[in-house]
Amino acid sequence: MKKIYFSYENTGGLSSADFQLGMRFLVPEIERLQEVTLAGGYTTDYASVNLPADTQMLEKVQLVVDAKKALRPTALVVVGIGGSHLGTLAVQQALLGTQYNAQQPDLKIYYVDSVDADYTYDVYLLVEQELQQGHQIILNVISKSGATTETIANFMLFEYLLKQYYPQTYREAIVLTTNYGSPLWELAQQEEFDCLDIPQRVGGRYSVFSPVGLFPLGLLNIDLEMLLAGAAQVVAPCTSIEVTHNKAALSALLLKEHYFSGKNIHDTFLCSVDFAGFGLWYRQLMAESVGKMYDRDGGLVRTGMLPTVSQATADLHSVAQLYLGGPLNRFTTFVTVDTNKANLVVPRDIERKVLTKLERQLQGKTYHELMQAIVEGVRIAYLKQEMPFVTFSIPEKTAYYLGQLIQIKMFEIIYLGFLLDINPFDQPEVELYKQETRKILSHE
Ligand code: PA5
Repeated sequence: MKKIYFSYENTGGLSSADFQLGMRFLVPEIERLQEVTLAGGYTTDYASVNLPADTQMLEKVQLVVDAKKALRPTALVVVGIGGSHLGTLAVQQALLGTQYNAQQPDLKIYYVDSVDADYTYDVYLLVEQELQQGHQIILNVISKSGATTETIANFMLFEYLLKQYYPQTYREAIVLTTNYGSPLWELAQQEEFDCLDIPQRVGGRYSVFSPVGLFPLGLLNIDLEMLLAGAAQVVAPCTSIEVTHNKAALSALLLKEHYFSGKNIHDTFLCSVDFAGFGLWYRQLMAESVGKMYDRDGGLVRTGMLPTVSQATADLHSVAQLYLGGPLNRFTTFVTVDTNKANLVVPRDIERKVLTKLERQLQGKTYHELMQAIVEGVRIAYLKQEMPFVTFSIPEKTAYYLGQLIQIKMFEIIYLGFLLDINPFDQPEVELYKQETRKILSHE
């Protein structure tokens, strides 16, 4: 099996002695993670690192996947927001492509997260079309707390729709994924909906390898065993105290060093459009985990890097000028893919009298070569401007490598949280707007 390659040719002046020193500082956290993975189970905030090895959980999810597949659904509606759906989006888009629904698959997927009336109604109409044609759908409602306004409103909307077409059997089309004991869990017991548990100590943005991601991805025929095998494969190296083995720790050390030297933006530069969902997932993971008002001792710190996401090559024609010419306040992580599924070539035999100089240069070149040339050009420009960056090179877009990448990134953020002395697992300030919203909505 190949591996994800991590390169850090442009470290912004950090030497291997600096890395060794940083690694020594990380040792207590690495040892804690070693203990957690050795013990297994879900009793600490680090619980998510044990998900890839949980074969019982996979079996449980697989049973529900098989039961729902037997209904022969033509659409899967995923209702959930933030950590409850972005991991699924990341894996689905990376493996099935951003144009998946347009390719008329056996099972389309629709995500309903916000309460934007127009967007939600567009999805509603598409789902209703399926029902009008006598097709079955699956409604997967995902909420750890079971009490998120957007998710509950969307659950009610789509349950109502489903009930109109399947008044007797609509229950069998619904799967609720939530914490044991949550309001949604209680509802599932009373209404006899299928319910999948999210381990209590697994945070939303760390939950893609729990039933949160596994159920919808299994229904889409993603190879769950390979996804988890990829994630499991990086657990040992990512809990190694050897700096050369531990890509997650190294990446976190680089992020921290550059943050303290004024790079307060972390740009994830994606060299594959199919990784758009991954970009959204990582943006949330970093922002909610390290954007904190207080450190672990309660001191006011207001810390955090702003995670941005850029796409090759479209964003080179929109934000590259700012990146290369504007403030030097950015640390970049390139995510590249070594092989494409499609072997697309610029046509050689264009029957035209005149070919421009550029056309003559391009004819016969593969799109992969074009992308590589452009990405290499960008990296050279970054080097010349002394803009620090690292690169994660993914051998190919498969469940195995996606599992690896996602797990490495979760370890990276846990280590970064430790280095910044904040808790990477909570999100206390998100409650501020939630409380205000509840107050407004409770006015009769
Ligand atoms: O990562 C997180 O914890 C959050 O982004 C949550 O996933 C998000 O707020 C949705 O919460 P819930 O799953 O409780 O509906």
